[in-house]
Amino acid sequence: MSNGWDDSAAAWIADMGEEGDFGRACVLDAPMLARLRGRGFRRALDVGCGEGRFCRRMRDLGIAATGIDPTDALLARARARDPEGVYLSGRAESLPFEDGAFDLVVSYLTLIDIPDIRAAIPEMARVLSPGGTLLIANLNSFATAGGWAEDGDGTRRFRIDDYLEERAEWAEWHDIRVHNWHRPLSLYLGLLLGQGLVLRHFDEPVPHGGDPAKVARYRRVPWFHVMAWEKPGSRAAVPGEG
Ligand SMILES: C[S@@+](CC[C@H](N)C(=O)[O-])C[C@H]1O[C@@H](n2cnc3c(N)ncnc32)[C@H](O)[C@@H]1O
Repeated sequence: MSNGWDDSAAAWIADMGEEGDFGRACVLDAPMLARLRGRGFRRALDVGCGEGRFCRRMRDLGIAATGIDPTDALLARARARDPEGVYLSGRAESLPFEDGAFDLVVSYLTLIDIPDIRAAIPEMARVLSPGGTLLIANLNSFATAGGWAEDGDGTRRFRIDDYLEERAEWAEWHDIRVHNWHRPLSLYLGLLLGQGLVLRHFDEPVPHGGDPAKVARYRRVPWFHVMAWEKPGSRAAVPGEG
């Protein structure tokens, strides 16, 4: 069954622009980029790179980034925007790379898009080198378990239900219509811990700009978290450094 990404690609590209949408421009880019600067990353894999915006940000920081994504129209855009970049067709569940090929693996709002998360997270850990970092931005599980609705007194409140039930639902906004997975946080954390990864950073970033109404709504129900997980082991010395 289609996950909606082929049909939504044009609307997605329009919505992103070069700055990203509200969640990226006003909430996530700053803390995600802060986890990259000055840490000596050299080879990054962006799993579910979409139209390549975050690969371009990594390139700007001097990190050689490979993007992988199953949606051809998004990959075509990524290649057009960054002809020197490496953008491959593929899925997180079966990554076509050797063990330990990258010292940084990024999942920027893609865990909710990946159908077989039980295959994908071990794959992300496998291609990470010892000492490497898996940097994740994801939707909060309480956010994917519910939605805004009006109470009897007219007040808008966020209602959560069936939190522990893993499920895919259609999400629609700005002419984009895609399958998003809801999974309880314990499922994601259990898979990450099960790979022996160590949590080094966790944050629920607050918006630092944007439409005040959106910011107020976001502060009532924060949509995103950022996590940095480390693979145990020493990072290989880079020839000519140190
Ligand atoms: C919400 S978008 C995020 C794109 C990009 N990371 C960004 O932040 O702009 C989710 C992306 O996941 C991709 N995707 C869907 N299924 C996937 C899978 N099985 N493996 C890897 N990526 C997948 C989609 O094609 C889409 O580009």
